[in-house]
Amino acid sequence: MTGSDFLQLDPSQTPRNGRTAWLAERLRAAITDGTLGVGARLPATRVLAADLSMARGTVAEAYKRLTEEGLLVTNQGGGTTVADLPVSAATPPLPHLREASPEQPLLEVSSGMPDLTSFPRAAWLRAERQVLATAGSEELGYADPQGAHRLRVALAGWLARSRGVSVAADRVIITAGVTGALSLLAQVLRDRGVATCAIEDPGADGNRRILDYWMDDITPVPVDEHGLDVTGLAGTGERAVLITPAHQFPTGVVLSPQRRRELLTWAQEVDGLVIEDDYDSEYRYDRTPVRAVHAGAPERVAHISSLSKVLAPALRLGWLIAPQALHDELVRKRWATDLGSPALPQLALAQLIESGTLERHLRSLRLRHRERRDAAVDAIERSLPGCAIEGIAAGLHLVVRLPEHLDDAEITARVRQAGIQVQPLSQHRFNPGPPGLVIGYGPHPIPRLQQAIKSIGEAIRPLLRQR
Ligand SMILES: Cc1ncc(COP(=O)(O)O)c(C=O)c1O
Repeated sequence: MTGSDFLQLDPSQTPRNGRTAWLAERLRAAITDGTLGVGARLPATRVLAADLSMARGTVAEAYKRLTEEGLLVTNQGGGTTVADLPVSAATPPLPHLREASPEQPLLEVSSGMPDLTSFPRAAWLRAERQVLATAGSEELGYADPQGAHRLRVALAGWLARSRGVSVAADRVIITAGVTGALSLLAQVLRDRGVATCAIEDPGADGNRRILDYWMDDITPVPVDEHGLDVTGLAGTGERAVLITPAHQFPTGVVLSPQRRRELLTWAQEVDGLVIEDDYDSEYRYDRTPVRAVHAGAPERVAHISSLSKVLAPALRLGWLIAPQALHDELVRKRWATDLGSPALPQLALAQLIESGTLERHLRSLRLRHRERRDAAVDAIERSLPGCAIEGIAAGLHLVVRLPEHLDDAEITARVRQAGIQVQPLSQHRFNPGPPGLVIGYGPHPIPRLQQAIKSIGEAIRPLLRQR
């Protein structure tokens, strides 16, 4: 038996380009669906490279990536085996879609999640070990409520490189994700008499619910193919707005340069605040990441983001860069709430950024998500012919438009019967609008994604023909 037989790889399918990503994806799928069980020994890099007619370095790099992800381990003698990790807890084996019940959705292709199986477990452990080996005992005491200075310095550099945000470390506030930043801002705005806020419609349902909780009222403003309708915003009389300009959630549009200018003029004229949720701008597949709106008017924009899409939501690590006029009050509010975020994970993250590991991880994740995006688009074109697909140039999700006569909430209930959890576009709407599905392609290996989309197609196709 050859190395490629063992892995059920067909050498004739080896692509010409992107071979490392291809091989890593195939191996990952084989591990997560149980084809390669815990402890299974992989062929030597030389053997597999010869079988697949690829360079030995390519195979070694694919093994290295999966070792970084914690899926493989290198043994003392140099052999490589499947790691003894609770992989099944992170990625359940390929489900039997027909056995789904409404109470138990089997496969969630909802928006927003990155590929959590690729969390760099080994690198994170190394960073934590390094922090524990070097941190002084004073670092185990009460920390600065604004966040660890070392992380704020590392983040200031990262934000300048990745988003064009130029900020001094003493203006960065570490928060519990975007959500922590948003609730802090909402409370401080309320204290100042701004108890209502404009939001995008459609816009992220989760953010809307947080603002709804903290504020007296929220006002929807329509989004079109250029992004938020700023003339509509000006008509609301609001003085604060929450917006996703780099990659509008859920439609995927980028706020046009003209609208950016209008937005900043609006903020100036009403003495207002733009809350910029830059939740996933690292994932652009068509061009370099879009520059943050914050860069154009730092005293009118509160820039918020997190590592939920790049590392994992479970870290609850994010940041907030606010206008000087709000900064001290925000830090005071954080101090009075909980004295700030835990220090040790902050130091581990700083270590990951300083060593370049985060940027390397992001580069490989971008490739993986892009491959999954391509596979999802392909599968949708085959399974839902005639349905437009939008928002594919960036992020971790896309939108499938449905014919006007369909109710997307009913469609998702039907798809759920087939064992697939998917979000209706209406879930993210304030006012009624055209139907659609929001599909997240980040977390699933390609075969599972293809199978899920095929099942979605089977559930919907009969309805597409009805009128
Ligand atoms: C639009 C948007 N903003 C922000 C977030 C991330 O929130 P957090 O950083 O609190 O995990 C999400 C998560 O899905 C999102 O969809």
